Amino acid sequence: MTERTPIANLKEKLGQEVTLKGWVDIRRDHGKLIFIDLRDRSGKVQMVALPNHKEAHEAANMLRPEWVIEVTGKVNPRPEKMVNKDEANGMLEIEVLSVAVLNEAETPPIDLRGDGREIGEEVRLKYRYIDLRRPRLQKNMRARHEVALFIRNFLAKEGFLEIETPLLSKSTPEGARDFLVPSRLEKGKFYALPQSPQQYKQLLMVSGFEKYFQLARCMRDEDTRGDRQPEFTQLDMEMSFVEREDVMALNELLLIELVQTTMPEKKIQEMPFPRFSYKEAMEKYGSDKPDIRNDKNDPNLLAFCWVIDFPFFEKADKGGWTFTHNPFSAPKPEHMEWLMNKENVGEILTTQYDIALNGFEIGGGSIRNHKPEALKRVFEIMGHDPKDIEAKFGHMLEALASGAPPHGGIAWGLDRVMAILQNEPNIREVIAFAKDGTGKDLMMSAPSDVSPEQLAELGIRVVKE
Ligand code: AMO
Repeated sequence: MTERTPIANLKEKLGQEVTLKGWVDIRRDHGKLIFIDLRDRSGKVQMVALPNHKEAHEAANMLRPEWVIEVTGKVNPRPEKMVNKDEANGMLEIEVLSVAVLNEAETPPIDLRGDGREIGEEVRLKYRYIDLRRPRLQKNMRARHEVALFIRNFLAKEGFLEIETPLLSKSTPEGARDFLVPSRLEKGKFYALPQSPQQYKQLLMVSGFEKYFQLARCMRDEDTRGDRQPEFTQLDMEMSFVEREDVMALNELLLIELVQTTMPEKKIQEMPFPRFSYKEAMEKYGSDKPDIRNDKNDPNLLAFCWVIDFPFFEKADKGGWTFTHNPFSAPKPEHMEWLMNKENVGEILTTQYDIALNGFEIGGGSIRNHKPEALKRVFEIMGHDPKDIEAKFGHMLEALASGAPPHGGIAWGLDRVMAILQNEPNIREVIAFAKDGTGKDLMMSAPSDVSPEQLAELGIRVVKE
């Protein structure tokens, strides 16, 4: 195999013969000259097939957009007046010496020349594998990788372990509907896909790991929006022997270093991040995820802020109380007595901290109730009877009674963070294979019917209305 030169490295190869492999971006015929833009993951380059290289010229004449080709050619400087300063390879072009077609392609169903925003999203999602060839999406995926890598290295240096937690699990109350997976071995029973690793990460604290994180997939059966997918990724973390300030300080440092290292062109509006109580945020901005940017037209401005001191409970639609954020949270220390006595319920504030960025909630967490009696009170206030509490949360209460350290944590919505950092209007643009607005995977056609045999094996009969 001849050694391949990535298109981004061509500048170092002026005057030399190279082998390039990639996709035909566009072909333009100028009389006898045929111009072909070649694309690989590192960039684009203009190539020219001249009639004096007869075979190569004939082969170039056959090429169509998105064909996969191997080209040998000479790296020539462009004539002065043809130099294009806006392109990375604008000062050079490839004189085509030979062309081999590695694979042909049907005429692409979507145009890859623009940034794709002008094309209907349905067709982009249906042909996502082609859409992802677009430089904008290639850049988004690369940035996401860089950010994930930075996070992993940062947290590893801080002593955190990345530990995977199950996807086939039991319902965790995070306030959304669960996706259920039927059990074949125990017909009529179901796993739930995790809405977050909340219970597992707390159990890892009980196990003594002290510092856990995970880039965790979370599933929530809720209506899809610009900043919401049924399946999304959290940077999830939990720490033992910490207080609210410790978790907030570590996350603030991580966010600042992440931005400064991976996105130096961005400006953080205010450091340390300003903090608002829930009450202040609502009074001042009418939102619990306020957009405090002092210049909303600046695409490189990042205005982080914390929102704290949320009420623990709110009135439920069906009467009684429900939690506002997370049933596993601890109240603020000064309100622990109210929780234990189940008094002043509406006044109890939680240790919950949310972090907002440019008007989006990008994360939230809390210090947890590490004593079983306190957690039990939360479920009692929400009207669960003892049998119900035992059935749903018996394992958590038992675990907390087995020597659970004080602990707390947080989870970021990684997709939201990436969308904002990449100046994308919605999180689908930073997710390789996103679902559409109705939760469908248009490319795979999921959800889909399954065979009667599969249903029978699961003991399931489908009732169609
Ligand atoms: P929470 O439910 O607030 O907390 O989720 C944490 C963050 O995840 C993001 N997020 C979403 N992103 C995309 N699509 C969704 N459907 C979606 N839902 C949530 C948000 C949110 O701030 N276990 C707790 C965390 C903890 O207490 O440690 C939890 O999941 O950016």
